[in-house]
Amino acid sequence: MQSAKCKVNVLLPIAAVLATAVISIAAAQAPAPNPTAPAAPAGNADTGKKLFVSVGCYQCHGYEAQGGSAGPRLAPRPLPYAGFSRYVRRPTNQMPPYTERLVPDTDLAHIYAYLQSRPTPPAAATIPLLQ
Ligand code: HEC
Repeated sequence: MQSAKCKVNVLLPIAAVLATAVISIAAAQAPAPNPTAPAAPAGNADTGKKLFVSVGCYQCHGYEAQGGSAGPRLAPRPLPYAGFSRYVRRPTNQMPPYTERLVPDTDLAHIYAYLQSRPTPPAAATIPLLQ
């Protein structure tokens, strides 16, 4: 009896923490459209592509920023630049923070340009295997 109760005492808080994590990941992924947001600083997509790999963003978000098991899709429509840069500097969940020293604002602008330059994925209806 004692050990079953003990298991519940251990598992319940773990389940609660997992549920909170799932909810906050969903919240972090919600797009925040803001038509008055300032435009992104100019960046170069080719430079951004190299930085996306050398800095390590690809490890969780995939080479095409298509998302994967370790990080959500970022391209081709990343968050508005202000929210994007705020999140990279001070992530609120599992993502490690990238300071200005590690990824200067100019580099972040290049990365942002790379994300925006990714082609839009084809609609599911046009993929025969999915029909
Ligand atoms: C260790 C894995 C990891 C790495 C490396 C990583 N991220 Fe993330 N990123 C995540 C996860 C996981 C999330 C989802 C929210 C969370 O848990 O923080 C996320 C969320 C984000 C978000 C906000 C969510 C959204 O939909 O836009 C942005 C922006 C972002 N990442 C950009 C970057 C950039 C740019 C880099 C490289 C400088 C990077 N990430 C590197 C794991 C990672």
